[in-house]
Amino acid sequence: MSLLITNIKQLIQVHEHNTTILKGSDMKNLPVIENAYLYIENDTIIEYGNMTDCEGFDAETTIDATGKLVLPSWCDSHTHIVYAGDRTSEFVDRINGLSYADIAHKGGGILNSAKKLQDTSEDELYEQSLKRLNELIAMGTGAVEIKTGYGLTVDAELKMLKVIKRLKQASLAKIIPTLLAAHAIPEAYKSNKQDYINYITEELIPKAAELNIANYVDVFCEEGYFDIKDTDAILEAGKTYNLQPKIHVNQFNILGGIALGVKHNALSVDHLEEINDEDIEALKGSDTIAVALPGCSYFLSIPYTQARKIIDAGLPLAIATDYNPGSSPSGNMNFIVSAACVKLKLTPEEAINAATVNGAYAMGISNMYGSITRGKKANLIITKAMNHYSEIPYAFAHNPIEQVIVNGQLL
Ligand code: NIG
Ligand code: FE
Repeated sequence: MSLLITNIKQLIQVHEHNTTILKGSDMKNLPVIENAYLYIENDTIIEYGNMTDCEGFDAETTIDATGKLVLPSWCDSHTHIVYAGDRTSEFVDRINGLSYADIAHKGGGILNSAKKLQDTSEDELYEQSLKRLNELIAMGTGAVEIKTGYGLTVDAELKMLKVIKRLKQASLAKIIPTLLAAHAIPEAYKSNKQDYINYITEELIPKAAELNIANYVDVFCEEGYFDIKDTDAILEAGKTYNLQPKIHVNQFNILGGIALGVKHNALSVDHLEEINDEDIEALKGSDTIAVALPGCSYFLSIPYTQARKIIDAGLPLAIATDYNPGSSPSGNMNFIVSAACVKLKLTPEEAINAATVNGAYAMGISNMYGSITRGKKANLIITKAMNHYSEIPYAFAHNPIEQVIVNGQLL
């Protein structure tokens, strides 16, 4: 299979040498070729350049992209798209004045979703999740991390992991599974949290590792969920089974989870709606990337991550949807890129870098995804006609996507 895209108004995020992360002021640069072509074979980017050099290609399919832009698909490094039903009633409760924490105290929140998921068959869960996955692919996402965490028992967590595996087999998108058994304390362990932590470290993590079904381990390190000591124990157990951490930290409170994540060589520390100078210092010199989730701030009306503080300290930043039924029920990365500009004060260049190369880094796949580079996977967005990539975040809540190419296939 070969595909040639011609007359591209702007070919965006072109890197001659394979770029796998962009930090600090480097995030301001977004390399573009004006009036470009792109040639792919099977699932791979083979060649690109200026239209004046577009000669000698004998492609099976040619797309004329006059007036349109081409960029790498979005890399959404933090989602919880495998869930059952929805939490619209809690949404209404919040409109009427309850907080996310109030709802959790009443037995709602994550435990509400866990109950629903435990009562849902694997096939039904798969169907609901596949629908969400296909929707986000149509909105330009080509690689997505998916967490467990609504199971909270060995059986239900494995049901989630099996669903993720089936999505992986059924979809052209790149899917990265993460084990988030430490998402909430189940009702049955309410008065003995330590027993649940032992259950995670002694049963859940070993079982997931035995089945080789998760790439990363996650913990919701937060007041009322898992404290620093709990998180340390879970990450330590993950390490024994080669599960690198990607953790939820600093969403509502600063507990020291960022330094702990760095200590455990976390691939990413996510949320960071709250962040202080020590957190920034802890990240410096590490291989851990900060991930901001502006959809969660928007939906819960909580502070936005101080992204400028992170980038201006010379650090890398990724942005992701956090698509989940409780705090961010949207998988639209176009909106996230816009929110990153409007609310996190990123420039369009920084926001697009955060959603492509750096998003891929936060999933451990940036050697093959996230930029237009020869040899990388052909996961691409063809936009509607527009003059400049800044129109993507500018026209917020519009759909800038005309077509997507996932794993070399035009959808
Ligand atoms: O990333 N904060 C923890 N986990 C999710 C929310 C999960 C839920 O409310 O169902 C998040 O925001
Ligand atoms: Fe999350």
